[in-house]
Amino acid sequence: RAQKLDLVFQHIRNVPDFPVKGIVFKDICPILKEPKALSAVIDLFEEHVRKNHPHTELIVGVDARGFLFGPLLAQRLGIGFVLVRKKGKLPGPTVSVTYALEYATAEAEIQVDAVQAGQNVLIIDDLLATGGTLQAACELLKKQKAQVLGCLVVIELKDLGGAEKLPVPVFSLLQC
Ligand code: PRP
Ligand code: HPA
Repeated sequence: RAQKLDLVFQHIRNVPDFPVKGIVFKDICPILKEPKALSAVIDLFEEHVRKNHPHTELIVGVDARGFLFGPLLAQRLGIGFVLVRKKGKLPGPTVSVTYALEYATAEAEIQVDAVQAGQNVLIIDDLLATGGTLQAACELLKKQKAQVLGCLVVIELKDLGGAEKLPVPVFSLLQC
């Protein structure tokens, strides 16, 4: 497990002043480029979900980088994957919420038939910063009466306190 975490850590690139001055951007592209690192990410998430949330019925991925890890995890678990997208990308009918980002504002949307009332879901994204994005995803799923068991992220930026904003536990592979 420690070896896998180290492999993931070694494949995150810190990019100063992106996308705006003062932000040190955590770039996960090197993980995707190295199959062993990507496998390690999915292995670690799979292990966590099987142990802590064995009744998960659906993985919900957040636009855009939740889409990179979510389907691989869902396949491993033998369950489905659905999308929370930025507004205007999904054919209707949809429901939406507005939210604030670390460096912008946005609107998130889900198709009304993506989840059923009472379904057990986990939400996945690459990174937790202020928590605005995952909070919005949680709200959307609550609107659809899904049961959100938790959130999964590769990286948690601890200093921004995003986890405290969320109504569910967050599991992060790395804390920065
Ligand atoms: C980033 C990141 C998370 C979110 C985290 O996505 O991938 O989704 O911000 O920030 P928060 O915790 O402060 O909400 P971004 O909005 O840059 O969109 P992208 O994935 O489409 O690039
Ligand atoms: N990396 C990737 N996505 C982000 C970051 C970051 O540092 N901060 C907010 N979204």
